[in-house]
Amino acid sequence: MKLNAYLSGFGNEFVSEDERCPNSLPKGQLSPQVCPYGLYAEQLSGTAFTAPRDQNKRTWLYRIRPSVIHSPFKPYSGSNLTSNWDQIEPTPNQLRWNPFKLPENSVDFVDGLNTICGAGDPRARNGIAVHIYAINASMNDKCFYNSDGDFLIVPQIGNLLITTEFGRMQVKPNEICVVQQGMKFSVDVEQPSRGYVLEVYDNHFVLPNLGPIGANGLANPRDFLTPTAHYEDRLGDYKVINKFMGKLFAAQQPHSPYDVVSWTGNYVPYKYDLSTFMVINSVSFDHADPSIFTVLTCPSDKPGVAIADFVIFPPRWGVSDHTFRPPYYHRNCMSEFMGLIHGTYEAKEGGFRPGGASLHSMMTPHGPDFQCFQKATNDELKPQRVADGTMAFMFESSLSLVTTEWGLRSCQTLDENYYKCWSDLKSNFNAGIKQK
Ligand SMILES: [Fe+2]
Repeated sequence: MKLNAYLSGFGNEFVSEDERCPNSLPKGQLSPQVCPYGLYAEQLSGTAFTAPRDQNKRTWLYRIRPSVIHSPFKPYSGSNLTSNWDQIEPTPNQLRWNPFKLPENSVDFVDGLNTICGAGDPRARNGIAVHIYAINASMNDKCFYNSDGDFLIVPQIGNLLITTEFGRMQVKPNEICVVQQGMKFSVDVEQPSRGYVLEVYDNHFVLPNLGPIGANGLANPRDFLTPTAHYEDRLGDYKVINKFMGKLFAAQQPHSPYDVVSWTGNYVPYKYDLSTFMVINSVSFDHADPSIFTVLTCPSDKPGVAIADFVIFPPRWGVSDHTFRPPYYHRNCMSEFMGLIHGTYEAKEGGFRPGGASLHSMMTPHGPDFQCFQKATNDELKPQRVADGTMAFMFESSLSLVTTEWGLRSCQTLDENYYKCWSDLKSNFNAGIKQK
């Protein structure tokens, strides 16, 4: 697949025309009586019409046929997607999964989505879900759009070739992409592929505020890339899959949905290369909270509290003096779902493997395993590289995440022995040690 250039920036007002149809964007207005080239104008609204200007998201699409031409939707089954959080009893235990299994039969991105945990209600527009995809087939003449929320997709194995109404993007492991509510897309793969999806039901993702850090740092806006307009004028038997109120529905349409010749607006899909994240950390002592590694955040209505943060643990220097350098022992009023794209996470060098996951629920204790504690309390504290060749990430949520039947049972990769990684931690207390 030949890709056009990307547009750079986060939240910009973009314009994009397929170069085969110059001047296809209407001049000086959005909805002329007759659009250039005989196109139809269609607005895709990502926020309420009346959302404040700095949050208002919409894009105008100029397309060969309007999206409304399709047969009635009918229920579609084929994936393990759910927003039913009452399938099984919740568990407060620390959970860890070995790498999720790749499929043996032919499975595409829609059919290969498995909900592992989540909370909230897409009908009430509040909540999140975490899905694992494990696939080996492309979505031929099949597209997907989500009425319930936005997908943040984290590939772990295999490049994703994602065709959207806005154009096409390639997303490789160590990159992420966001496809927002309502945007139609199809995923092509070249090999068995696996990854993680964070779905948010209410707000959209934004860049975190930088506060005293200043104007630059963490994920810089210029490193977010949006595809450029690319249309196909193709008839065929196209299947449109819609995720609506947590369930899937299918409709047929007699043409490709990727017939947008040009578009303008600030409601777009985008991708981001995690290696471009500028890392901030302590250069004196103590371990900073992982919020310093936030790439994107989906804010709640409470100031400073996220529906979900996307946090990464990139390669960096560890230099803090007289400090226990790994992540501290912790109990949190937030839920922490972690995944590993590649490498070895510094607090768990053993059982936390690429393509696996862990979930530390609200107030469930967690922290470095026995080996990590032993090493970190005896290490010579010279400057050292941390996480080279590694990219772990966390979906951190203010919601209490329930695991699904698939997550606890049918995925068959739950590590029943996870709790044992802490069982060798013994008391080192000695009241007789003289303290200065
Ligand atoms: Fe934690």
